[in-house]
Amino acid sequence: MTDLDLTGRTALVTGGAQGLGEGMAHTLAAAGARVLVADVQDDLGAKVAESLGDGHAFTHLDVTDDTQWEAAVATAVEQLGGLDIVVNNAGVEITSLLVDVEPAAVRRMLEINLLGTTLGLKHAFRTMRPGGAAGRGGTVINVASVAATIAFPGIAVYSATKSGVDRLTRVGAMEAGKLGYGVRVNCICPGLVPTAMGIGLANDVAGIGLFGSAEEAVQGVVDLTPSGRLGEISDMTDAVLFLASDASRFVNGVALSVDGGMGM
Ligand SMILES: NC(=O)c1ccc[n+]([C@@H]2O[C@H](COP(=O)([O-])OP(=O)(O)OC[C@H]3O[C@@H](n4cnc5c(N)ncnc54)[C@H](O)[C@@H]3O)[C@@H](O)[C@H]2O)c1
Repeated sequence: MTDLDLTGRTALVTGGAQGLGEGMAHTLAAAGARVLVADVQDDLGAKVAESLGDGHAFTHLDVTDDTQWEAAVATAVEQLGGLDIVVNNAGVEITSLLVDVEPAAVRRMLEINLLGTTLGLKHAFRTMRPGGAAGRGGTVINVASVAATIAFPGIAVYSATKSGVDRLTRVGAMEAGKLGYGVRVNCICPGLVPTAMGIGLANDVAGIGLFGSAEEAVQGVVDLTPSGRLGEISDMTDAVLFLASDASRFVNGVALSVDGGMGM
């Protein structure tokens, strides 16, 4: 197998200040990429970039803001030498039964999960395609969710946004291919990982009465998982590394489930 070396490449990771995004930034940097950590949490994001060492940087990026995306990809090109990998990882989950759904919460999930990923694709394509400011093609990895592949109560809107990320991925791959951008587009569908979001979700589905406690919610997920455990950050970062590297050079337009078999 071709190795997973990313030396000479530049990666931008959204939502890189904590959780899965922080792990992805570390894994991509360890594989040799220069990493631009992008997030709305400036202090945490800057600390992550600093912990990666020299040759990496942080930029403030609200993924819902088109102008901030323009500035972020320009930073990658001007400060870190190009743009070869974009990981659209930033996302939010707000638990609610459909009967209780709040329009503001729906809009927030649509904006960050769907608009944010769409703008990430837009600016990745513009920058990476021939004639773009980086111009050497590349790879985009979107972060969907096992929620796009199952019907788990309490997370209907979140699940819908992640199904949207899955479809954006496939159409994005086709568009990039047909128009000769030289960019592959794939997504991962992580299972539940006990990050701030994952722990919050377990608490929230218990809080709305679907489970007796957060521990029971977690056990419910584990019981639905053939591999018999929750996901770990490294499970997700290894999948992202594969999709970012030439080892996946003929993998395009797929949703890679990294969920221990929960979503079948
Ligand atoms: N943890 C899980 O169980 C799980 C499972 C499946 C999918 N996912 C997905 O993985 C991704 C990362 O999740 P996580 O568990 O690390 O969550 P997290 O809440 O720990 O981290 C999310 C990060 O995204 C950032 N963010 C939020 N809104 C933003 C915006 N508008 N612009 C830029 N950054 C923004 C936050 O500041 C934070 O650093 C999300 O897309 C999530 O939906 C997580």
